[in-house]
Amino acid sequence: MSLPLSLYVHFPWCVRKCPYCDFNSHPVRGNLDQTGYLKALVMDASTALQAVPTRGITSVFLGGGTPSLFDPGTFEKLLVHLHPWLNPEAEITMEANPGTVEYQDFSAYREAGINRISLGAQSFDPAQLKQLGRVHGPGEICTAFERIRAGGFENVNLDLMYGLPEQTSAEAMDDLERALALGPEHISWYQLTIEPKTEFARRRPPLPAEGEVEVMEASGRERLTAAGFQRYEVSAWSRQGHKCEHNLNYWRFGDYIGIGAGAHGKLTRGGPSGPEIVRTSKPAQPRVYLAEPLETRQRAVSDVEISLEFLMNALRLTDGVSADSFTARTGLPLSSLEPTWSELAEMGLMRNDRIATTAFGYRHLDAVLQRFL
Ligand SMILES: C[S@@+](CC[C@H](N)C(=O)[O-])C[C@H]1O[C@@H](n2cnc3c(N)ncnc32)[C@H](O)[C@@H]1O
Ligand code: SF4
Repeated sequence: MSLPLSLYVHFPWCVRKCPYCDFNSHPVRGNLDQTGYLKALVMDASTALQAVPTRGITSVFLGGGTPSLFDPGTFEKLLVHLHPWLNPEAEITMEANPGTVEYQDFSAYREAGINRISLGAQSFDPAQLKQLGRVHGPGEICTAFERIRAGGFENVNLDLMYGLPEQTSAEAMDDLERALALGPEHISWYQLTIEPKTEFARRRPPLPAEGEVEVMEASGRERLTAAGFQRYEVSAWSRQGHKCEHNLNYWRFGDYIGIGAGAHGKLTRGGPSGPEIVRTSKPAQPRVYLAEPLETRQRAVSDVEISLEFLMNALRLTDGVSADSFTARTGLPLSSLEPTWSELAEMGLMRNDRIATTAFGYRHLDAVLQRFL
């Protein structure tokens, strides 16, 4: 069985750690050893890609951490190495932090082969940015955005968060307005969550009341729709033709290879009794990864987990996925979703022609997923 295949590359360093963030990111100390990390990534990629046909990869995501701490030349060398495996049309995204790109020439990243930028704006309110521990102010977001456009990027995402400490719905809308004014093709609009083991979990900031967050969401949905954006996933909004192909592949339960410190992968292999899904992970500590870039943990996923993971991804999409793709991507019969699927359809929470919620069910996504647990 051949599924779309993506490649995720993790860059685990940031200028400093933001208090809300639980991604595998570490404050950079001294000089970044770009050559050493590139060497490890190339070894890692060569091994991981051995079994992959050439021109097989449909998207690459250079994520972090803060990949924009790395020079364009480092990405160019990596992408030259990956070139035989990449589809000519592959979407190649790099995450950038406005605090690290202010003075950079983005055309060099474009020439290296990157064709999409995801810029971490988070907010345009100077006090919020400070509270979020960001290394930039609102001015740097706008400068970075201008440089990205001047560098020739026509596909740009802005990451924005709402439900920030003591934020009012008017302030959240102001952030959205400033983001829209820049004219990105895509906006990822995330509600701030307090993740265990983060600084915010230890010293919980005062978050807006649930009712206020609901007002933010309703007004935000209206504003984004009026501005020509379509919501296609819980937090993802895009203009026509600019959905994030890489993330779509995750949500549609495609396969992906993960390389770099702490990267995760998912691969489907043909087994004697049907497809077997394996999850892979790399050592999270950059020091350990640099010493052992070929170390990969593998774990076969059980049928019950597969079915649940499929639903947890597919039902995040506003349109869900076709019923056929369940068996094609999990190897399990559709009947394994019964009787819950039919019950939810009868309650008006799920469609019965696709694996998708109804508009009503989408507003109660957690409850829908709970029923499958
Ligand atoms: C891996 S981060 C990478 C972006 C880049 N390092 C930056 O911060 O500018 C991806 C995005 O996840 C979002 N994010 C991170 N932690 C979050 C949290 N606790 N709640 C909601 N969104 C979060 C932020 O919007 C962030 O830009
Ligand atoms: S810059 Fe991004 S990845 Fe780094 S700590 Fe902050 S949110 Fe996390």
